[in-house]
Amino acid sequence: MTNSHPIRIAPSILAADFANFGAECRAAEDAGADWIHVDVMDGHFVPNLTFGPAMCKALRPHIRGTMDVHLMIAPVDPYIQAFADAGADVLTAHVEAGPHIHRTLQAIRAAGVKAGVALNPGTPASAAQPLLDMVDLICVMTVNPGFGGQSFIASQLQTIRDVKAMIGDRPIHIEVDGGVDTKTAPDVARAGADVLVAGSAVFRGGSVEAPDAYGANIVAIRAAAESARGEMA
Ligand code: DX5
Ligand code: ZN
Repeated sequence: MTNSHPIRIAPSILAADFANFGAECRAAEDAGADWIHVDVMDGHFVPNLTFGPAMCKALRPHIRGTMDVHLMIAPVDPYIQAFADAGADVLTAHVEAGPHIHRTLQAIRAAGVKAGVALNPGTPASAAQPLLDMVDLICVMTVNPGFGGQSFIASQLQTIRDVKAMIGDRPIHIEVDGGVDTKTAPDVARAGADVLVAGSAVFRGGSVEAPDAYGANIVAIRAAAESARGEMA
């Protein structure tokens, strides 16, 4: 099975220097990042807190490309307009975040933003089936959301395959988030993912003063994913 989208690497700034986010976004893009992944956590839907729309607005001028905002919050709807106004290109809400994911996705698109739906590891791919015509992206979580640096949950490869089979030839991105590194990238690419979120595996070994490692890390993750795809062609 092939995927028409090129592999995209989306560094998660959850693993960046929190005192230096603007410079970290610029460094990640200079190092070859395709998208910048911004993890919004509310201490309620997930057991951790990060930041909200004001931070996204502050980051916007430091990101040339796609700002991919992952909303790990409940409720979602009261904040959609604020994240749209902050300049998000993609807003991804969790299917588990409330009873009205369909309405949430409608509201995201109505705000002029690409809509994503995320699936926790305990949620089957079929939960996204009724939403296929409303989403631009399906994010398969390969860790339980809330923290960076967790181990990849290999059983989620089947969920990626199920999502891939389900979307058929719709131009929906399959994003994978959690524990992606050079070891797991080939498996997720083979399963059908095209947007690879990686936090620790991108930012490890470098800093804004010494960003060379970021470039090497991104090149290595991309090469691992692309070569696995190449083997399938
Ligand atoms: C987890 C976040 C992820 C996280 C990934 O809740 O959604 O985006 O930052 O971090 P790594 O790549 O370190 O698993
Ligand atoms: Zn994320």
